[in-house]
Amino acid sequence: MIPLKLFSNWRPGLVGDLSGTVLEIGAGTGVNFDYYRRAQVIHAIEPDSDRAREAEFAALEVRHKIPIYVKVAPAEALPYPDHHFDVVVSSLVFCSVNSQEQALAEIERVLRPGGELWMVEHVRPSTPILAWLAATVTPYWKKIAFNCHLDRPTLDLLQQRGWRVELRRRIGVFVKLRATR
Ligand SMILES: C[S@@+](CC[C@H](N)C(=O)[O-])C[C@H]1O[C@@H](n2cnc3c(N)ncnc32)[C@H](O)[C@@H]1O
Repeated sequence: MIPLKLFSNWRPGLVGDLSGTVLEIGAGTGVNFDYYRRAQVIHAIEPDSDRAREAEFAALEVRHKIPIYVKVAPAEALPYPDHHFDVVVSSLVFCSVNSQEQALAEIERVLRPGGELWMVEHVRPSTPILAWLAATVTPYWKKIAFNCHLDRPTLDLLQQRGWRVELRRRIGVFVKLRATR
């Protein structure tokens, strides 16, 4: 599993300025919640019920500033109506969803027209030898790392589905991006 504390510097920059009605997918234990500053309301989903319970506690701590509602659900079946959100956030989740296509289809459904998808993710390495290595290691790695894939072509998939991707930062396999359709 990737040490999530490594990303604490990125978190305020990812969510701090997001405004409107926000959905965070795969929120884990709610590590991002404290960094939201401008969102009006946050809905968060997390399929693991133990993590979701911890996220509910994290939500209680920041609820005096921003209301946060947590549900147990996967990104592939979002329990929200169409066009409900201004922004969707995914931090270190698209490596481990069961179906990236289905998760993106659901995000496309719940985002309002012109809405934004913000991601921090690790993606398939861009050099062929490292991409080969990532694909070779992934069948073993995902068994010990909670379904984390090292070879996900997340950027390609976004573009294939008609997302305009603005890469805000890239460090090796880690990307921070804003995407709109
Ligand atoms: C590496 S953790 C990241 C947690 C948190 N987003 C963060 O930034 O630290 C990956 C999270 O994705 C969640 N996850 C796995 N499969 C998922 C799915 N199909 N839909 C939504 N979340 C999923 C895991 O339960 C876990 O909480």
